[in-house]
Amino acid sequence: MKKIPGLLLLQLTVVFAFAQPGNKTVSIIPEPVSLVLQSGYFKLPVNISIDVKGDKEVNYIASSLAKQISTATGCKVAIGNKNGTSNIRLLINSSPDKTIGDEGYRLDVAPQNVIIKANKPAGIFYGVQTLLQLLPAEIEGGKLAKNVQWEAPCVSVTDYPRFGWRGLMLDVSRHFFTKQQVKEFIDEMVKYKYNLLHWHLTDDEGWRIEIKSLPRLTSVGAWNAKRVGYFGTFSVPSPGEPRNYGGFYTQDDIKEVVQYAKERYVNILPEVDVPGHSLAAITAYPELSCSNGADNHGVSSGEEIKDWSTHKALVDDNLCPANENVYAFLDKVVTEVAQLFPFEYIHMGGDETFKTYWEKSDAVKALMQKENLKSMEEVQSYFSKRVEKIVESKGKKFMGWDEILEGGLAPNAVVMSWRGMKGGIEAAKMGHQVVMTPTTYCYIDYMQGDPIVEPHVYATLRLNTAYSFEPVPDGVDEKYIKGGQANLWTEQIYNTRHLQYMVWPRSLATAESLWSPKEKKNWDDFARRVEAQFSRMDAGQVKYARTMFDPIFTAVKDGSVSDSLRIELSTEVKGLDIYYSFDNSHPDNFYPKYTGPLTVPKEAVMLKAIAYRNGKPIGRQLDMPVNELRRRAGLKLLKLKSEE
Ligand code: ACM
Repeated sequence: MKKIPGLLLLQLTVVFAFAQPGNKTVSIIPEPVSLVLQSGYFKLPVNISIDVKGDKEVNYIASSLAKQISTATGCKVAIGNKNGTSNIRLLINSSPDKTIGDEGYRLDVAPQNVIIKANKPAGIFYGVQTLLQLLPAEIEGGKLAKNVQWEAPCVSVTDYPRFGWRGLMLDVSRHFFTKQQVKEFIDEMVKYKYNLLHWHLTDDEGWRIEIKSLPRLTSVGAWNAKRVGYFGTFSVPSPGEPRNYGGFYTQDDIKEVVQYAKERYVNILPEVDVPGHSLAAITAYPELSCSNGADNHGVSSGEEIKDWSTHKALVDDNLCPANENVYAFLDKVVTEVAQLFPFEYIHMGGDETFKTYWEKSDAVKALMQKENLKSMEEVQSYFSKRVEKIVESKGKKFMGWDEILEGGLAPNAVVMSWRGMKGGIEAAKMGHQVVMTPTTYCYIDYMQGDPIVEPHVYATLRLNTAYSFEPVPDGVDEKYIKGGQANLWTEQIYNTRHLQYMVWPRSLATAESLWSPKEKKNWDDFARRVEAQFSRMDAGQVKYARTMFDPIFTAVKDGSVSDSLRIELSTEVKGLDIYYSFDNSHPDNFYPKYTGPLTVPKEAVMLKAIAYRNGKPIGRQLDMPVNELRRRAGLKLLKLKSEE
């Protein structure tokens, strides 16, 4: 045998040790702080025992895990203390492990057993989410899956979140989602270690929470006339038209959802959006506006109630800051909200308060004189400060959208920065706590692909842009940034399938920005892991968008040739082949492959393109009219014979 020099032997050993487990890939989202692949697999035995060391919360986690495993695998799963011989062990540390904090965990998957250790049950819960992501996708199916190799690769994971506030906002006002649908939303979010549901409960289109002392809020304010199509353009309901579309949560429903969320380590932040966005409340109680409900034709069904270009209100949807009854009203609302939601914060809105009717109001003018308020922004600030006092009088903390900065921030307010990061930066510099949720990265109601195929919304946020969300801006002390969230406004979302399509996969991106270490973020690897999550969502029958595989069309005016168009094609994901046609037929991998900028053949009217990987179609075919590309490039449109 040839003698191998010592150093080479060492190198070979290292390569071997790395290469062996390296044959396996794991695809956890959000990426753990540290994950080391070990050799071997933990194969689920036919009889599984889960050993629990902790309180009844850990028992509950164990029984949920047992149920999920036995349903999908058909294995028998028992819970109990088997003196350390169990296959799966969920253990609360007897002395605190400082590295991992309250939500972190250590997970060791070895050939013989799986051990999850944490300081608190929340950490065990997150360790279980990671373990589930190591098991085959069918574990998410909710039914017995046959012919599956039930095993998890051996790993050692140490993991804990970067931020304590990892939120998703759900607007249930524009379209109502039932308590069961909200629970399902929670089920999906916790898989990716979200811990906060921001529940947008009131808006112009519906008041969704029962307030026992103000019954008209839901008997009147929860109902509009059903419309489908383009929200914001709908006709005003005719006088006799039934208003039977909508709904609300009873206080028992709210308690049930709060409890459900708590069992999954999710806090619920209730939002009551005032003083603007209050048409539902004003329809119920017109005297709460300064104009006694001027121009109001009822709870909005999605008709045009605001002119967004001039910021003029077309109907009065603002509470009146100069009416003491408004503060008495809010006191009643906040009293009941505070009793229903254990979370320490109440969000009181504050966004997009168009001041049209305040400007015309004698009562507001008198208030300005009395309180020495110089502008409408100061009027709103006066209102916010009074609302903050109401919230604090119920033992809660006040937060609002970044408009609450205008005219002077209430003393203890937490700011939710949505119009970019600048509101958050300003608030943090003033020593206020901030939650970052800028439209630029976090508005998942925006389209995620090309407008020619996506249901129309006024802006686009692609997955890779969502992934580049960094919650802590340069020059801001991280201690002021509580975290962030993605926001799902539902003006254009009429059902839960489309809701899921909008949430996933962009909320995977936000989850990773909020949980994983900044330096571990990597778009290419994330895109790979997203694909693995798609299989899990398929198994769980959760809808998601595959827009990251769509061809992206970039149209530019070619400066060198007058009236000429240059078209570039790309995809968000690397390593794909794009095939295209200009002859109206459907391209496949026998068609021209895109290799560089295209010019349009004479008289061609349509560019069709589709992405492939390894000879197989992976994305959708997009059919792009040449005239649409010309419009985007600022070129004159072609006159088409076919359109004459
Ligand atoms: C908002 O998007 N109006 C907060």
